[in-house]
Amino acid sequence: MSIIEKAVQRLDQLKQASAETPAVSEESPAVVAPKPAVKSLLSEARPLAGADAASAPPQGITLKPATDHPTRVIEIDLGRLAKMGMVTPDRSKSTIAEEFRVIKRPLISNAKGHGAAPIAKGNLIMVTSSLPGEGKSFSAINLAVSMAMELDFTVLLVDADFSRPSVLPRLGLPAEKGLMDVLVGEVADLRDVMLRTNIEKLTILPAGMPHARATELIASEAMARLLAEMASRYPDRIIVFDSPPLLATTEARVLATHMGQILVVVEAERTTHGAVTHALSTIEECPVKMMILNKSRGQTGGLYGYGYGYGYGSDTRTETPA
Ligand SMILES: Nc1ncnc2c1ncn2[C@@H]1O[C@H](COP(=O)(O)OP(=O)(O)OP(=O)(O)O)[C@@H](O)[C@H]1O
Ligand SMILES: [Mg+2]
Repeated sequence: MSIIEKAVQRLDQLKQASAETPAVSEESPAVVAPKPAVKSLLSEARPLAGADAASAPPQGITLKPATDHPTRVIEIDLGRLAKMGMVTPDRSKSTIAEEFRVIKRPLISNAKGHGAAPIAKGNLIMVTSSLPGEGKSFSAINLAVSMAMELDFTVLLVDADFSRPSVLPRLGLPAEKGLMDVLVGEVADLRDVMLRTNIEKLTILPAGMPHARATELIASEAMARLLAEMASRYPDRIIVFDSPPLLATTEARVLATHMGQILVVVEAERTTHGAVTHALSTIEECPVKMMILNKSRGQTGGLYGYGYGYGYGSDTRTETPA
C-alpha cells in the first residue's frame, strides 16, 4: 500500500474513531485546555525565562542574560488570522483548531519524550513538503499557534525558508532581521532578532536577509551549535521550523539533518506518490516523520481540510493521536 493510500486509510480510521468517541475535548485529560493566551501589548516585554547559564552559547553568538536584554514584542492581528482560516487562541473550537489538536498530539508526546522511544532533539520539529505551495507555512504557523495554546511549554516558530521567508508576511508583518543575520555575524545576539508576540507563549525567529550561501550556513558548525543550544537551553520549549520544499533546494535537506521530528505536508490530489517517496528518501535519517494530507476536499464541511497519515522512521513510531 502506498504512503498516500496509508494516509487516506489512516484518515478514515480517525474519522471512524471520532464518530464513535467524542473528539478530543477540552475536558480530555490528554489535552491541556487551549485557553486564550493573548497578552496585552501594553505590558512590558518579558525576557525569555529559564536560561541555563551552564550551557555554552555557539561560537560567536551570545545569549546575554535575560534581564538586560528583553525581546521585542510584535502584534499579530488575530482577526486577520481567523479570516484566513488559521488557528487562533480565541477560537479554540474552530475546525482548523480541532484538526491541529490531533496533528500536534503525537509531536508533543515525542517532544516530551513520552513516545515509544526517547527521541534526540524531539523538540526540534520541521514542517516541510516535497514541492512548493503544498501548505508548509500555513501548517507551520497553525501548528506553532496550536502548540502555544498548551500550558506547559513555550513555542519558538523559526522561519527557515531563507530564500522566500513567509512567516512574517503571512502574519501581515514586515520583514525583520533574523537567523541568517545571526549566522553571518551581522547580529551578535540571537535575542536581538527574536520577536515575542501577543500570543503569550509564541515567539518568532524570522529568517532574516536572504543570503547566497544559505545552504552552507545551514550546514555550518555554527548552525549546529545554535540549534543544539536552542534545543537544550529551554527544556520547556518546542521549536517549529517552516522550511523550503525538499525537492526544490538542498536547504531543507540540510536543515532536516538537525531535526528530531519532521512533519511532511502532502497536498491532496496534486502531489504524486513518486514525489512523496522521493522526498521521504531525502530525510531517512530523521527518527520521526509524520505526514499530513492537506487541502483534501469535503472534510468537515469545508473546502479544505487536513487528513492525518504517518510515515515512520526505521526504529521509532509516533503514537496514535487520541
Ligand atoms: N489547509 C488549507 N486551507 C486553506 N488554505 C490553505 C491550506 N493550506 C494551504 N493553503 C493556502 O495555500 C497557499 C500555499 O500555502 P503555503 O504558502 O503555506 O505553502 P508552502 O508549502 O509554504 O509554499 P512555499 O513552498 O512557497 O513556501 C496559501 O495561499 C495558503 O494560504
Ligand atoms: Mg512556505
